[in-house]
Formats: sequence, structure tokens, C-alpha cells
Amino acid sequence: MARFLDRAQSMSAIGSIRLAARGALRSFRDPTQTLPGGARSIVIHSSTDIQLIYVNTFAFFYAFCQTKRNGGHTSCWAHSLRARLRCPSVAAGKGILAADETTPTLTKRFDTLGIQSTEQSRRTYREMLFSCPGAAEFISGVIMYDETIRQKGSDGTPLAEALTARGIVPGIKVDTGAKPLASSPNETVTEGLDGLRDRLREYHGMGARFAKWRAVIHVTDTLPSAAGVSANAHALARYASLCQEQELVPIVEPEVLMDGSHTIERCEEVTGAVLHAVFHALFEQGVALEGILLKPNMVIAGKECTRQASVEEVAAATLACLRRHAPAAVPGIVFLSGGQHARLATAHLNAINRLASSKPWKVSFSYGRALQDPALEAWNGRDENLAVGQQAFYQRASLNGAASVGKCTDEMESASLSGDDPLHRRDWRDD
Ligand code: 13P
Repeated sequence: MARFLDRAQSMSAIGSIRLAARGALRSFRDPTQTLPGGARSIVIHSSTDIQLIYVNTFAFFYAFCQTKRNGGHTSCWAHSLRARLRCPSVAAGKGILAADETTPTLTKRFDTLGIQSTEQSRRTYREMLFSCPGAAEFISGVIMYDETIRQKGSDGTPLAEALTARGIVPGIKVDTGAKPLASSPNETVTEGLDGLRDRLREYHGMGARFAKWRAVIHVTDTLPSAAGVSANAHALARYASLCQEQELVPIVEPEVLMDGSHTIERCEEVTGAVLHAVFHALFEQGVALEGILLKPNMVIAGKECTRQASVEEVAAATLACLRRHAPAAVPGIVFLSGGQHARLATAHLNAINRLASSKPWKVSFSYGRALQDPALEAWNGRDENLAVGQQAFYQRASLNGAASVGKCTDEMESASLSGDDPLHRRDWRDD
């Protein structure tokens, strides 16, 4: 509620009325729905809440008249308004922890350190991150994997519930992975649409309030193909639309991979084309951009490219690309780290936020490896290391929190123990 009010209050008065009106209309048509800012599940904390409910009551009549004029057609704005109720990461200085590695991927990471991967050890590891003292100051949401959202912590509380109690919004990865594209086997298309509505409903019942779907785009001189880009964009948009229907905020993640020897210019070209296709598909599927988060890659040279761009070049190219292709209606852009070293991922985010060009969205992080790797190593599968694991996680979370408002300094980074990049980590991949 507090978040919703922050957002609602930052809108113009007319905008607020229009949004509330259309939300009210949806509630009117479906009596099981909650009025935005009012009615069923809202706790009134302040007189501002009461004013908002009053506005909604007025807005209902406005919406009714508008809809009559539209021939009974409701717009996607109601979805947007509702999706925003639990939109993580838009708060300044905060970002999202991606802890949604599949079991095979997390097992591979455990293997490189000689940690046994069992349901219990994976739970202990995730609980260590989720319960890290002080981390909620910088982490507003956590993306979980199916196994994790069903697990209980050591005190018997479901992990999603424990996160919510700490003020962290639980989220869930809902795609079922990237599979070879039939017409172009060197590319992938992400699957998981079958049965998605029911799974979203179930996850919502378990406390999830946002979701994630990752499309994977491979880069060579000739890839991605037009078919690969459009298949992935279409699936992302179908997923996002279903999420908004089920009142989960969709994180839309089209990842242009860092694998390969392509230049930063090629990455910029491909990232621009992919974002263009994704936003076109989102438009076609009626997705309310006000109720999504975009999770893109940064514009960066391939890992094998002989010329690696400077931090300033990456920041400038990334922001230029996003300003061209990400509409201002999107409330937040939360980058993936994609295999960048932890410190470099922080430096890039910091540099982007320091650029003078205007940014119509909040720009923050939704890192997996760049937040977790130092913590995983510090923990190393041992109970006696849980506190140092949390310390390493806290450091990366706080540095990225500072970078999300352009306030991370070299002194802060060098004072931290976390973020070095040992060789064994270079092959850790995400799924
Ligand atoms: P990385 O930051 O490790 O790329 O992971 C983010 C993520 O969620 C990938 O889907």
C-alpha cells in the first residue's frame, strides 16, 4: 500500500484519477476484484489513503462513462495499476536479488566449490541470503526458483513468507528454460507458456507478487535471426500479459549474451533490435508498460572480444540504447549481470546512474552471480561460515544499492572484501 501511494502520489492529479477510474471499473465488472486503493484488502494508514478511496469512488462514475463511450472495451490500464501495487525495486537505492537458478545450475556452482547439492544445502544457502541482516535496506525483491518458494526456513516459516515479513517482495521464475529453436538450432526460444496461467495463480497463492521470464539471444555475425528475435519477443509478451492478468508484475528479461567475440557496437545493434521487437510484442499483447520491469543486458563487448570497452563507454552505450528503445512508461530497468565480474557490474551500474542524460525510469540491478558469487564462496557449504557468507552478500548488496543512485565510490569498493573474481567463477553460467 505504501508503495502504491508513493507511486500514485507522484502521478499528476489527472493521471491518478484516470488510473483509479479504470481500476475501479474493472472491480465493478468483476466483484471478486479489489478496488485499487480501496475496498477489500486495503489497510488505511493515513488520511491520504482515505482521499484516494474517495477519488476512486468519484472515478468509478468517470470510468463508467468512459467505457460506454469505448463501446464497453476496457483498457489494460487497470492491470497496470494493480500490478504496481507490489512492484519491487522502484524505490531509490534498492534492487532485486536473482536467486532463481535451476537445481542443475546451482548444483554446477556448488560442484566447483566441492559443496554437496541437496535439497537441504540449497535451502540453507538461500536462507542465508534471504535472512542476511540489513540486506533489506538494499534489496526490495527476490526472484526464487520453484523448489525454493515451496521450502520452509529452519524455523518452519515458508521462505516466501519470511521475505514478505522483512519487507522484501517474493518473486518467481516461471519460464521453463531456453530450448533450441526448430528452424534455427543454434538459437533458442524460451518455453513455459503451457499451463502458465494456473502456475501463476498457484505462485500468487504462495505469496509471489512478481515473476521473471528470461529470453536468451545468441550473438554472432549472422545471429540472431529475425525468427529467433520474434519468437522470443512473442513469448515474453504472452507471459507478461498473463502475469498482469494474474496480478503479478512481470519482469521482462531479454538477455543478449556476452558469450562470443562480438564488439560493443554489435551488442548495441542487437540489443536495440531485440528491445524494439520486445516492446512491439508487448504492445500487440496489450501489456501495460506501467506495470512491468525491464531486465536487460548492458551494452558490452563479447567476453572473447579483443577490445573491451571502458566503464564509461559501456555506460554511455547502454543508456543511449535504452533511451532509444525503452519507453518512458516503464517504471524500472533492472540489469542482469550476465557473467560480468561482481565489481565491474557495480561500476557499470554506478556509471550509468552518474550520466547526466535524463532517465525516465529508475535504473537499478537484478543481479544473480554479481550479488551471490562472493557469498557462495565465503559460505562454502559450512554452517560455521554462514555469518561471513552473509557479510559478503551484504557488502555486494550495499555497494549495488549505492550504485543504483550513482553513489558508489572507489573507496567504498576497495574497503569491501567481496567482489574479486577467481578463475573458477569465469565459467559459471546462468540458465
Ligand atoms: P545474472 O546476474 O547472473 O546474469 O543472473 C540474472 C538473472 O536473473 C538471469 O536470468
